[in-house]
Amino acid sequence: MDLKKLQNLPNTKIMKFANSIRIFRGYSPFPVYILLYLTYRCNLKCDFCPQYNRGRSNIVKSYPEMNLSELKNFVDNLIRDKFFINPRIHFFGGEPLLRKDFLEIIKYVDEKDIKFSLTTNGILLKKFAEGLVENNAKYINVSIDGPELIHDKNRGVQGTFKKALMGINKVVYFKQKNKKNNPKITVNCTINASNYNHLEETIYTLQNSGIDSLTFQHLRFYKDKLYDAKGIDIDYLTKEIVKIKKSRYQIPITFFPGIKVKDITPYYRDLSYRFYNKCLRPWLVSTIMPNGDVVACSASEVFGNIKTQPLKLIWNNGAYRAFRNKINSQGISHENCIRCCHRQYY
Ligand SMILES: C[S@@+](CC[C@H](N)C(=O)[O-])C[C@H]1O[C@@H](n2cnc3c(N)ncnc32)[C@H](O)[C@@H]1O
Ligand code: SF4
Ligand code: SF4
Repeated sequence: MDLKKLQNLPNTKIMKFANSIRIFRGYSPFPVYILLYLTYRCNLKCDFCPQYNRGRSNIVKSYPEMNLSELKNFVDNLIRDKFFINPRIHFFGGEPLLRKDFLEIIKYVDEKDIKFSLTTNGILLKKFAEGLVENNAKYINVSIDGPELIHDKNRGVQGTFKKALMGINKVVYFKQKNKKNNPKITVNCTINASNYNHLEETIYTLQNSGIDSLTFQHLRFYKDKLYDAKGIDIDYLTKEIVKIKKSRYQIPITFFPGIKVKDITPYYRDLSYRFYNKCLRPWLVSTIMPNGDVVACSASEVFGNIKTQPLKLIWNNGAYRAFRNKINSQGISHENCIRCCHRQYY
């Protein structure tokens, strides 16, 4: 297999590959991508967002952000201590575009020939559209939770739908101007109590906006924090999903995680339902917090910090491998795993 192609493979193929390597006592040859939280700051107030619910100012204080030279140093280390292939960097947050030095960060990453992508609420996308196209962003996930009124209500701030769409338009404009196919634009629509009965309307609203695809994201929630999962009429949602899956639209539509239709009700209503008790993410993705701490995901401890050690040394250290081995032998048992989007549901 051409390892360079791995970065572009769909999840199922990556999983098969990961399955074949996960036997080596907790080792993993490389992360397929690095989820880099640039900041926990955010300009919106989405009530279904765990970060907003945990109290933004407290999390922001707990994670002082790395500065530009620390981030550049991290990139330099990635190049110097090569993994098998260079992992893609996915910028995340909070709202990653709130970083004043965002353009400098992506320029540096692109200069070093590292692929990158991001998830954004789109508010500042217009401002960064040209830079994202010129610096070869691979793809952009823009979060839009439904038609205008629903989206603005969900996001807690008026005018957010229009701003996100203007951002998308600008990216499309610069792609055409520079004759580039990338970045691909995917809208990420998180299913919740105010939009579960407007999914098809969301597709029709967005399919001619220049986006390349749309993903409906099932709500992630926790034992003690259901957000508005209870307000979703599951029978209605299930019928809507079946209808969408059978229909053809102008753009590809996916659901994430790809829960089987028969499992949608227990996903939302029965927290004790026994889904497939496995997760491959710790083998595939490394997560870096705004302060440089490296974790596998929200179920793991901190394995190191990229300000003091290159990621290559942290990725297969004893604690990281012990975490992977624990998942291999005991399955996923942390309470954050219960309705995590990244576990295997089938
Ligand atoms: C946490 S946000 C960070 C990036 C950026 N602020 C944004 O909104 O796109 C990343 C994605 O997670 C989604 N999200 C937020 N809360 C969620 C939840 N409880 N379950 C599933 N997805 C959620 C958001 O809608 C967004 O698409
Ligand atoms: S914009 Fe993103 S990070 Fe901010 S509150 Fe909404 S989902 Fe959370
Ligand atoms: S299911 Fe658990 S182990 Fe897997 S990514 Fe989610 S929180 Fe981490």
